[in-house]
Amino acid sequence: MLVTRDIERTRKAVAAARAAGRRIGFVPTMGALHAAHVSLMEAARRAGDFVVVSIFVNPTQFGPGEDFDAYPRDEGGDLATCENAGVDLVFFPSVAVMYPPGAVTTVHVARLTDTLCGPHRPGHFDGVATVVTKLFNIVQPDAAYFGQKDAQQLAVIRRMTRDLDMPVEIVGCPTVREPDGLAMSSRNAYLDPDQRSQATCLYRALEHARSRIQTGEESAETITTEMRGIVENAGPCRIDYISVVDPASMEPVTRIAGPVLVALAVRIGRTRLIDNMTVDPRERTP
Ligand code: PAJ
Repeated sequence: MLVTRDIERTRKAVAAARAAGRRIGFVPTMGALHAAHVSLMEAARRAGDFVVVSIFVNPTQFGPGEDFDAYPRDEGGDLATCENAGVDLVFFPSVAVMYPPGAVTTVHVARLTDTLCGPHRPGHFDGVATVVTKLFNIVQPDAAYFGQKDAQQLAVIRRMTRDLDMPVEIVGCPTVREPDGLAMSSRNAYLDPDQRSQATCLYRALEHARSRIQTGEESAETITTEMRGIVENAGPCRIDYISVVDPASMEPVTRIAGPVLVALAVRIGRTRLIDNMTVDPRERTP
C-alpha cells in the first residue's frame, strides 16, 4: 500500500494504475476509520477497482462552534485499517497541501442544501462540495463511493457531478449500523455510556416511521410528531430536525405517496448525531 501526501505523487500513482488498465475507485474520508468506512473500501474492491482512500479532516466543512479541533485523528490506526482492507493508495494531505494561501474558489450546490442539515450548518455543504471537487481533480477516479448514512451529502455530490459534468460514477452504499441499530460514526466516540444507550432513539424513531408508513400512515406531520415523542422520551437532547423529504430533491413532503427519505439530526450533550432511512410505502408489512 502506497501512502502519498502531495498532489503530484498521488496523480503519478493513479496514472500508473490506469496505464496498467485498472479502473480507479475512490473513497473520500475524514479518518477515524470504522467498519462503515471499510464497507465502502470493500465495495470498491469488489468492483475490481484500484482502491484510493483519502484521509483529510476538512476544515472548511466545520462551522465556527463545531468540532474541527476535537475531531478524532488516528493516523497509525487508519493506515493499518486501510492496509487490512486491501487499499492500494492512501492520500493523506495536510491542510497546507489542500488549501494553499490565496484560495478563493468554492463550489455551491443550491436548493438541495436549503433543508435538513443545510440551515443548521451554514457553509457546511459548500465545504464538502469544494473539497470533494478538489479531491476528484487530484485523484481523477472513475467511481467514488459514499455512504447513504449522509444522504443529503450523497444527493449533493450526485447533483454536483451531474451539473458540472464530472466524469465520475457516484456509488451510494448502505448505512452500516451497530448491533443495536446506532449508525456507525466517528462522532459516536464522544458519547458517554448513558448517552450511548440514549443514542439508539434515532434508529428506534426511524424504525417506527418505517413501520407506520408501511402500514398506511400518509401524514408526514403525524410521523414526525410520533418520532419526536420517541426521541424526547429517551432523555435530554436538542432536536435539530425530524423531516420527511423527497429522496432526490430533499424538499419536504406532506402526504406520503411514494418513496420518501425520513431523516433526523439530534444533539445529545455536545454530540450531533444524524441518521435517515428511505421508506417505500408500497413495501407494506402485514
Ligand atoms: P466521513 O464522515 O469520514 O465519511 C466518509 C464516508 O463514509 C462518507 O461517504 C460517509 O457517508 C460514509 N459513512 C460514514 N458512516 C457511515 C455509516 N454508518 N454507514 C455507511 N457509510 C458511512 O463524509 C465525510 O467524511 C466527508 O464529508 C467527506 C465526504 C470525506 C468530505 O470531507
